[in-house]
This record gives sequence, C-alpha cells and structure tokens, in this order.
Amino acid sequence: MKVLIIGSGGREHAIAYCVSKSKRVDEIYCAPGNAGIAELAECVNIPVMDFDKQVDFAKETGIDFVIVGPDDPLVAGCVDAFEKAGIKVFGPRSNAAIIEGSKAFSKDLMKKYDIPTAAYENFDNAEDALAYLETADFPIVLKADGLALGKGVLICKDLEEAKAGVKEIMLDKHFGDAGNRMVIEEFMTGREVSVLAFCDGTTIKTMTSAQDHKRAKDGDQGLNTGGMGTFSPSPFYTDEIAAFCQKEIYDKTMAAMKAEGRDFVGVLFTGLMLTEKGPKVLEFNARFGDPEAQVVLPRMKNDIIDVMEACVDGRLDEIDLQFEDNAAVCVVLASDGYPVSYEKGFEIKGLDNFEDKEGYYVFHAGTKFAGQKVVTNGGRVLGVTAKGADLKEARANAYEATKLIEFDNKYMRNDIGKAIDEA
Ligand code: AMP
Ligand code: GLY
Repeated sequence: MKVLIIGSGGREHAIAYCVSKSKRVDEIYCAPGNAGIAELAECVNIPVMDFDKQVDFAKETGIDFVIVGPDDPLVAGCVDAFEKAGIKVFGPRSNAAIIEGSKAFSKDLMKKYDIPTAAYENFDNAEDALAYLETADFPIVLKADGLALGKGVLICKDLEEAKAGVKEIMLDKHFGDAGNRMVIEEFMTGREVSVLAFCDGTTIKTMTSAQDHKRAKDGDQGLNTGGMGTFSPSPFYTDEIAAFCQKEIYDKTMAAMKAEGRDFVGVLFTGLMLTEKGPKVLEFNARFGDPEAQVVLPRMKNDIIDVMEACVDGRLDEIDLQFEDNAAVCVVLASDGYPVSYEKGFEIKGLDNFEDKEGYYVFHAGTKFAGQKVVTNGGRVLGVTAKGADLKEARANAYEATKLIEFDNKYMRNDIGKAIDEA
C-alpha cells in the first residue's frame, strides 16, 4: 500500500513513524514533510493548501490512502478534494472540521446538545462585545472565532484588558479574518487534559490521555505557543472522569455532529478543563494535537492503518484500540524567541544519537536540509520524546535525551511534566 501524509510538523513525523511500522505499507510520501520525515518517507514539495497538486500527485503515484495532519487544510476542504477524486482519505470533511474552524460554531453546538463547557456569548461586532463586557465578571476569556495558530485566545484580568483585547481581535484584526467574529466566555480553573479520539462518524474511541504545556516559559509564564511539551497519560484523568466524558462529551458530540449532517470522521481532539464542577470542554480540534501526538502515538499498539481505515469505512466498533501500559514525555526544543521572533538556519547536531535508541524519539517540527546538514527552520524545531515505566522515569529520560541535541539558539522549558509531582 502507498500512503501520502499531508503536513510538515512534529505531529506528521509521529504519524509517519506509526505508518512506517505498519506491515501493510510499502511506500510513504509526505507533502511537504521535513528533514526528519525524509528518513521515513519520500518528501514531495507540495504545499499543504495546494489540493489540486496533491490530488494530481496522488493519482500519478497511485496513492492508496491519504492522511491529512494539520487544521488549515482540513478546514479548507482537503479531505473533500481527495474524496471527490475517489481517493481514500483519513480526516474530517470541511463541514465537520468546522468544529475547530469556528469557535462560535463549536460553542453553539455544545449549547444545543447540552455538552458541558464554559458559559459564553458570540459576537460579530465590536460595539456589542464592548457593551457586554461592561457587566461581565473578570477574569474573562476572549477567543477569535477562526484558526489562529493556537494563539487567538486572550485571558483578560479586568475590563481595561478585555476592552483592549476586543480591539485587538475585532478592530485591529491581529488574527486576520479569524477575528471577524469572537467568543467571550467564562474563565475556568482546574487541570487541563487533552484527549484524542478516533472517530468513524458514529463510534468514537479515545486514545490514552495527555497534557500539553502551552505557555512559552517555565511556571506557565509567557505567551501562548503551539505547545512546548507534553506528557501521557495524565494522572488526573481518572477512569471515573473518562467514563463521564465518554457519555457526556464524546458520544454526545459524535451524535450531535451526525444530527447536524456533519458526520465527523478522523481524530477529534477535546481540550478539557477538570473544574470543581466536573470536566468541561475548552475547545475541540479536528486533528491530532501537536505535540500531543508525539507522546500518544508512540504508545499505541495497533497498526495505525488498520485503525484509520476502519474510521473511513465506518467500522471503528470492530477495532480494539490498545495502548502500552507505560508513559511518555515530550520536551520541545525551540528557537529562542519563539513565539515572537527568532533566527533560524542553525545546524542541528546529535540527531544520529537517536538512531536505534529504543524508547527514544526525536520528532522534527521545524527543520530542513541545507546541503548534507540539517538546520533549524521554525519556532518549534524538535520534539524529544522518551518513554519510561512511569511518568517520572519518562520525564527523566526525556530531559536526559535533550542533552544529546545541540544547536545555537536552543531553548526549552525545564518544567515539562512538573504536575506529575502533584498527582
Ligand atoms: P484554546 O485554544 O481554546 O484551547 O485556548 C488556549 C488556552 O487558553 C487553553 O489551553 C487554556 O489554557 C486557556 N483557556 C481557554 N479557554 C479558557 C477558559 N474558558 N478558562 C480558562 N482558560 C482558558
Ligand atoms: N497542542 C495543542 C494543539 O495541537 O492545538
């Protein structure tokens, strides 16, 4: 079987790793890929948003199965394009990826189907949003409606900050058209958990849980990023909480999307806040999380193609999804200055230390080849993942492994998985 993966980040590298282990796969292609993915797949220089070229390539090459990684192409209809060409593809269609593409849509869906989430109001103009804030409680959360690289969320401690936030999102268009509409919602406190789940439109089966660290600096300080590190499983996501979420959140969401004529096939990512009043949804994403995938996928026992194909064929109920009874931690090595401004193009040394190192992985996020060398090519550069018998061992292993990699400008958080000590 020939598989094409769309994307170029650490998530797609982790997907490519699983695909490379599948006994059913002969050839892997990735568009556009990166220097790490190139070890496992043939990278083809087609941008993630150029669906025509992707489809042409898939036809010419005889691709049997396509996996779409990132949010932008999913929301814009990448899956629809491959389906139209009669090519088997894993991921939600555009009309289902809207669960991530529009926060106003996902909030209205949760309200309509009684799925627990923060109280909110949607706004399509700044005057109404500003008027609403006058009587609101603080802190309060402002969210640009559309896709904003995980950065379109502002937590505002008082009226003044919130007014500035509305201006930033709706008037100054800091996040572009993503800010044509916005959600204003209640501020929640608690532990955050990310739960990824395979979906076939009717059945939803969750993977092992994870926790991300979104802020750039230690102690959850600094700006929101795409994610600076993850651990899996979350010790706070107990069997009892999982059972509640399956019934009140995941199953309800699957049924809600079906009832709306938006059958969800692919990976549904639920960002949860475990509040005093029970688990509530922070957000839905229509894809694997990044860097959640880097700790969840290496622990998956199933052949990923078996599972993804079952999703596309609507027979996920036949799959016994299994994960290893261990733990994994991923520490992101970033370029100093991320997420604001940073230099790139620095040579990365030590990548070969990970070859054949059982239980250790170096997933490439922003890298490229410069001649024979691999150089930094983004804010998030690499995700160093290690497994361990338990979370503490995995964390120690991951931090030890970060020392094997060197590049100028290397930056990482030193407290990934600190919450483990409070479990
Ligand atoms: P989102 O992209 O919606 O997951 O938001 C990014 C981050 O902002 C989340 O991971 C939370 O840490 C925080 N956040 C979002 N919504 C809320 C909320 N209602 N209350 C508290 N924190 C929030
Ligand atoms: N790690 C969060 C995300 O992928 O959106």
